[in-house]
Amino acid sequence: MLSNLDQQPADALLALIKLHSADPRADKIDLGVGVYRTGQGATPVFGAIKAAEQKLVDTQNSKSYLGPEGDMGFVHALMPYIFGKGDPTMSGRIDGMQAPGGTGAVRLAVALAKKSGVTRIIMGLPSWPNHAQILGDLAVELVSFKHAGADGKVDMDALRGAIAAAEAGDALLLHGCCHNPTGIDYTPAQWDEIADLIAAKGLLPILDLAYQGLGKGMEEDAYGVRKVLSRVPEALIAYSCDKNFGMYRDRVGAIYVMAETAEVLNRVLSNGHALARAAWSMPPDHGGAAVRLILEDPALTAMWLDELDTMRSRMAHVRARLAEAGSAGAIDLTPLGHQNGLFSVLPLSGEQILKLREQHGIYMAGSGRVNIAGLTSGNIDKFIADLAAVSG
Ligand SMILES: Cc1ncc(COP(=O)(O)O)c(C=O)c1O
Repeated sequence: MLSNLDQQPADALLALIKLHSADPRADKIDLGVGVYRTGQGATPVFGAIKAAEQKLVDTQNSKSYLGPEGDMGFVHALMPYIFGKGDPTMSGRIDGMQAPGGTGAVRLAVALAKKSGVTRIIMGLPSWPNHAQILGDLAVELVSFKHAGADGKVDMDALRGAIAAAEAGDALLLHGCCHNPTGIDYTPAQWDEIADLIAAKGLLPILDLAYQGLGKGMEEDAYGVRKVLSRVPEALIAYSCDKNFGMYRDRVGAIYVMAETAEVLNRVLSNGHALARAAWSMPPDHGGAAVRLILEDPALTAMWLDELDTMRSRMAHVRARLAEAGSAGAIDLTPLGHQNGLFSVLPLSGEQILKLREQHGIYMAGSGRVNIAGLTSGNIDKFIADLAAVSG
């Protein structure tokens, strides 16, 4: 039976990591893998996480099973940051469960949508490649529209058209902030319009918030999610702590449900628990517990927010330097200055991307996606010069 399986292509980004580490050039630049890097090129564990992990080791007295919902203290501690401090449960209409990273949360959101009768999910492209893989794996149809134009701005007409053409029972998947891969986010005014359009059409929003705090700030990055929730009766929200707490491999995430009533919410979550039980039984505990310990302790919370601020300012600084350079050969770098988060896409051909890698030691995804955090004061001038050399 097993020989019936076809060989699957290797993950392109993981293959890129291998190529990069085998490259002996001292001035090589890795803009491929999607993790934050300091000005020294490191991806360190947050100080707040280290302190919380120590506290966990010192105080945890059992590793007995929790349940498919995971650590509900963690799930609830995040809610004021996502949904606002005033009434984060929207009078008992929002609750959630822990998931293995944002990926687990997105997968569960799509599975819940499908189980509720959704057969089509509308989504802007390009997107995080795993979105399409998850939809494919769960046999939900992807209806795509163009997320952004060549001018580096959101293509609102494409989104309006996709919503106008939607059918009753469709879901719409949107990135909450720091769009992966383009870095091109909706403005507050655009979110206002989108929220009204979704409400008027009766679509089920699936909001993927994987980078809160890495764009404009924790509050600012929640604008879109909060605005949509204020207009619609129900929604699914997939959340990742893997970037904003630097927990990547520890797989820390949560899925939240907003339902019309507390009774429906309870029913939806019981389905979430059943789906989780059949898939991964329960989420890994360690990372979620460490995040909870941070959020329960004002001093650790302040330390975490400060570390997050440092990350955000560093990326804003790199983006400002790129925008100041104006252009690199034929590439206009100015749009990168007002994009958000770790990623942007450069309009490079496959041949130019290959040349950058082979002749200049610059590694980026085949889509032209670059991780802004891979640039430092020590390599940014070389990057701009090499970009000019291949595109000029
Ligand atoms: C848009 C988006 N959603 C979800 C995720 C999932 O994050 P993780 O599973 O690492 O928590 C990512 C990660 O790259 C992402 O870019």
